[in-house]
Amino acid sequence: MSSSFKKIIPFAKPSIGTDEEDAVLRVLRSGWLTTGRETLAFEKEFQEFVSSKHALAVTSGTAGLHLALEASGVEADQFVITTPYTFAATAEIIRYMHAHPLFVDILPDSYNIDPELVAKAVRENKHHVAAIIPVHIAGNICDMKSLCEITAEKNIHIIEDCAHAFPVKYNGKYAGTLGQIGVYSFYANKTITTGEGGMIATDNTEYTQRMKVMRTHGIDREAWDRYSAQNKWYYEIIEPGFKYNLSDIASAIGRVQLTRANDFLEKRRHIANIYIRELSGLDFLHIPAYTDDHAWHLFMIRIQPEYCTLSRNVFIEKLSENGIGTSVHYTPLHIMPYYKNKYGYKPDDFPVSLANSQACISLPIYPDLDEEDLMYIIQTVKKIGQAHRPVHTAVPGSAATSPKPEK
Ligand SMILES: Cc1ncc(COP(=O)(O)O)c(C=O)c1O
Repeated sequence: MSSSFKKIIPFAKPSIGTDEEDAVLRVLRSGWLTTGRETLAFEKEFQEFVSSKHALAVTSGTAGLHLALEASGVEADQFVITTPYTFAATAEIIRYMHAHPLFVDILPDSYNIDPELVAKAVRENKHHVAAIIPVHIAGNICDMKSLCEITAEKNIHIIEDCAHAFPVKYNGKYAGTLGQIGVYSFYANKTITTGEGGMIATDNTEYTQRMKVMRTHGIDREAWDRYSAQNKWYYEIIEPGFKYNLSDIASAIGRVQLTRANDFLEKRRHIANIYIRELSGLDFLHIPAYTDDHAWHLFMIRIQPEYCTLSRNVFIEKLSENGIGTSVHYTPLHIMPYYKNKYGYKPDDFPVSLANSQACISLPIYPDLDEEDLMYIIQTVKKIGQAHRPVHTAVPGSAATSPKPEK
């Protein structure tokens, strides 16, 4: 591989076209920029898309998770089961409520929370478990059948973290509509984006009313209601709420992205299939199995240390030297200083999370990734892996076994 190679393939890239540009211009010229007509339309279209009774647009997935947990009535010092194998947001919102995350380890192949361990944590009942936040990692839906069975008998709420899981179905229903509340993220690298933004879906009208009020400072009516007609300026603050309403500019982008969501999913599926076809059978890599219950937000591979002399970090550096952007999902939360210090976790407390996190690499996957770049990524991964096999496994004649050329 030449060091003068200039190809740069980003890890993620939003697919934004002229329809999104036109939608933003329409709003900019409309005289109304904050939450209004566009946001109401986006909520209605989203709610129809996922077939939920209600949808609320918010400034981020994090904001949505916070509102969901607050509405579900979680109180200080109660416990919320979730996975350590997730982004900061999933657990920090539990701490916003002065409740505690009760981490449960994951399954090695799916990276999703292990239902048997969830059942055990609920059964042991050492703590008051008020809710569970399953995270559909990479867009691969958790075993929701088991999770619903475990939680139903104990009246434990399920808030689905669908930051990676849109638009994808499980037994005919969209992720995000399988528990009590579902929260989606429209962050820039997500499967649809508004730059920053998110959406909450639920069938529960009481929660919706609470989240609506708490989304806008705990005020009983939103600005759109107050200024869009005369003599409606009066409002009351009924709670110390938050400032989580989505702007019409962002919603206008979201409406266009929503119309493209199924096409994006097909493109992601196509890429995932090619990765799987081309990378299967390599002993130095673990790759995900193909399933339709997957939004393919991420394509996560794992380096198998017994068949590769490079550490995961050096493998990433080599990909980067070849112009390939990657990411790591995730460093588990229990080894992050805050959680480690607050709860006294040891790295081995969640051994599957720890082992997966030390070996995983997320490769580029997005609708605008063209096939030439995709094949280049695949060839580069293969070349790096094959050139760094332990001697006992090396293919005769490969770089790992060939004697150094004489000068
Ligand atoms: C698993 C997970 N949950 C929640 C979030 C939070 O979403 P947002 O960035 O929209 O706040 C993210 C964002 O990356 C995420 O990956």
